[in-house]
Amino acid sequence: MAEFIITAHGPFEQWTIDGEVRRNALSRAMVAELKTNVERVSADREVRCVVLTGAGHKAFCAGADLKERAGMTPHEVAGFLESMRKTFRALELSDCVFIAFINGAAFGGGTELSLCCDLRVIAAEAEMGLTEVKLGIIPGAGGTQRLPRLVGKGTAKDLILTGRRVAAAEAVSLGLASKVGTLDDALSLARTICENAPIAVSAAKHAIDEGAHLELDEALSVEQQQYAKTLGTEDRLEGLQAFAEKRPPVYRGR
Ligand code: COA
Repeated sequence: MAEFIITAHGPFEQWTIDGEVRRNALSRAMVAELKTNVERVSADREVRCVVLTGAGHKAFCAGADLKERAGMTPHEVAGFLESMRKTFRALELSDCVFIAFINGAAFGGGTELSLCCDLRVIAAEAEMGLTEVKLGIIPGAGGTQRLPRLVGKGTAKDLILTGRRVAAAEAVSLGLASKVGTLDDALSLARTICENAPIAVSAAKHAIDEGAHLELDEALSVEQQQYAKTLGTEDRLEGLQAFAEKRPPVYRGR
């Protein structure tokens, strides 16, 4: 059975985790299919953006599939976490822009999955949290590393050591999500991003991600390297020409 419902919206896709009965929890099959989907869009420049969400209204993703997990040996758990880490990292490193629409609860691995995305829009009634310590474990798919990079060490420790769940408004005020909104808001964000020059958008994503934790001079040279990717593009010339002709640009990703 397919683990995702994939809907094409012109230059972007919507991926809906199709596991409402288990609150879209991360099973082995789901992570394997996520990997395949990420590889596909990373190789295909036609898909510029993905809106990732969960089926139903209750959950974006309830974290690890705890029923499946109960039958795993510690060795199997470690192997599964490794595949999750690699898949999440591939998503983060992709030229494609990922927007998480957190339509409902995002706990544990569900919040970790959203943290790999470039932007997070959260539904008014949704909640987020890295709740792992309540289960005797710690976040194992990047949460202890990505959360402090996003919101700072103090807030990350508050959230991870307490395992508390935060409501949408607090998630936005902490910087955990960028805004409260609906699926339409997330789709419209994707549409806006897709109006821009694709190579420039990817270069800007990588410049921010790669430079954010470097010393400023090193970070500025990361920006320079990413800028260089746009210099020889037809789209840069199209941007200039469209400006001169007072018309909207038509970008081709070349
Ligand atoms: N793994 C596997 N199954 C899960 C699950 C998970 N992480 N989270 C929920 N489910 C299952 C429940 O066991 C239940 O199955 P059942 O109908 O066979 O009993 C079904 O999904 C519905 O769960 P329920 O709790 O009744 O739904 P809800 O809408 O009231 O609440 C959540 C949804 C996500 C808030 C709640 O299920 C929850 O807190 N889940 C645990 C999340 C968690 O601790 N994740 C961290 C993992 S590290």
